[in-house]
Amino acid sequence: MAEKQRFQAIKGTRDLLPPETALWNHVERTANEIFSTFGFGEIRLPIFEPTELFARSIGADTDVVSKEMYTFVENPGVSSLEELRHIAVQMYALHIKDGFPDFFLALIRSLIHLVQSKSQVRELEIGSQLQSDLERMQLILNEYEKLSSSEELHEKEKKSKLLSDLAIKIQLLRFSDRVSLRPEATASVCRAYIQHGMHSLPQPVKLYYTGPMFRRERPQKGRYRQFYQIGAEVLGGTDAPAIDAEVIEMVMTFFARLGLEGAKLDINSIGCRECRPAYVELLRAELVKVKDQLQPDSQRRIETNPLRVLDSKLESEQPVIEKLPRIAEHLCSACAAHYASVKHNLVLRNVAYHENWRLVRGLDYYMRTTFEITAPGLGSQNAVCGGGRYDGLIEILGGLPTKGIGFAIGEDRLILSLQEAGKAPAPRRLDVYVAWMGEKTYDTAVRAARALRGAGFAVELPASAQKFGKALGHADKLGARYALILGDDEVASGQWTLKTLSDGSQSKFTEPDLLAHLKL
Ligand code: HAM
Repeated sequence: MAEKQRFQAIKGTRDLLPPETALWNHVERTANEIFSTFGFGEIRLPIFEPTELFARSIGADTDVVSKEMYTFVENPGVSSLEELRHIAVQMYALHIKDGFPDFFLALIRSLIHLVQSKSQVRELEIGSQLQSDLERMQLILNEYEKLSSSEELHEKEKKSKLLSDLAIKIQLLRFSDRVSLRPEATASVCRAYIQHGMHSLPQPVKLYYTGPMFRRERPQKGRYRQFYQIGAEVLGGTDAPAIDAEVIEMVMTFFARLGLEGAKLDINSIGCRECRPAYVELLRAELVKVKDQLQPDSQRRIETNPLRVLDSKLESEQPVIEKLPRIAEHLCSACAAHYASVKHNLVLRNVAYHENWRLVRGLDYYMRTTFEITAPGLGSQNAVCGGGRYDGLIEILGGLPTKGIGFAIGEDRLILSLQEAGKAPAPRRLDVYVAWMGEKTYDTAVRAARALRGAGFAVELPASAQKFGKALGHADKLGARYALILGDDEVASGQWTLKTLSDGSQSKFTEPDLLAHLKL
């Protein structure tokens, strides 16, 4: 007999079960209520989008895009081509300097051949871009072959240039569209804003969303590969600091309504295109001076993204980071005024904040205001909300210059923190368990259940008759408030017995009286 296979949810993903899902619903309903009082409407977005959308918005060099996205090709028929392409790229990078071009060239010839045969059997459609890339590659191959095998320097140089041109072409070859499971939703909201011409609506457009996001991170408490966000974005109109403050006020109001205590708001301004580059260069110069006191990750970031060094949580790096120049002292006058006004507007709204000059956030699209909210009970993954301003993102994605600001709450973490603080509301109880016995009573039991459910009560109607003792035991286990006992006597007399399970007391009611009694 075949061995039974036990399937498990994939690492980093979870099933959310009752009664916990009642808390999830409560949180989402509350978001809907609070956000609508601030004039936000819900947007529902696709779970996957073109990979390029995320690469362009979040930044190709960020951890999220370079390491954590779940990406796949739209047409599975091209996966063998993708593998060959990948091998060719690797082979060029590893061996070309050692001089093994023959194998590399043979691989490329096979790749071109395979593309052509797939197209003949209609497994692949060769678009105009792919067609011209293939033709160019074929030309380079022909040119390479025409060159003699002479070892003359200028010929060798020419050949190595041709090989490098081929490698670049291979790297850029695209056999099919690539799509990714969304790692966040800001990029999608911006894409939707452009796609639906929302710039012609009254501005700003205020949208919120809830749903799963996907990042291939190392799972731990509060960090999952499929996690849920509740987010909101304000697009268009002005970049008035009052908008930044109102968006933050909305999150804090939402947290307060849920009873989340101890939420701490950190804010910062990371400047704009005018002032940030000079600060980043200054930071880089200062970091180079202390490079030997930093760990490899931070050392690498001096080159790639010096701002991210400020994110480091490593104990040994803290004294070094504390002495680095702070962006607040290097903001241009427009950014400094904007930041001052955001703080003033927060005070007006009674929102307490802490300034944190090291809050730079890990996604490339931010400018000026950034913020993060931490909550207790979460251990190291304690950021429960992150957000900021991203004027310019819509333009990068092909839209008109448009202002933007928003946030996303990690719903999994929010729920964890509420649970740790005992703030989960009691899940809905079962009101009535219909204990029926005897074939003749079944019709009445069905009618009673329909009437009670119609009046809004939660009712359990067992599918088959049970002895009353067993039925009452079951009702108790389910936590029912009442058992409605229906036997032959009750049906014949029209007097139904209602048992209060907490004290065992019983009373008799006619059908209309019973409903009236329960509604009290
Ligand atoms: P983010 O900081 O990458 O920002 O994510 C926002 C929140 O999502 C985090 O503070 C955290 O609570 C939660 N989160 C992120 N990754 C995970 C994970 N692996 N497991 C559980 N929770 C996680 C954004 O996503 C931006 N789109 C926010 C935004 C909207 N900025 C402007 N508008």
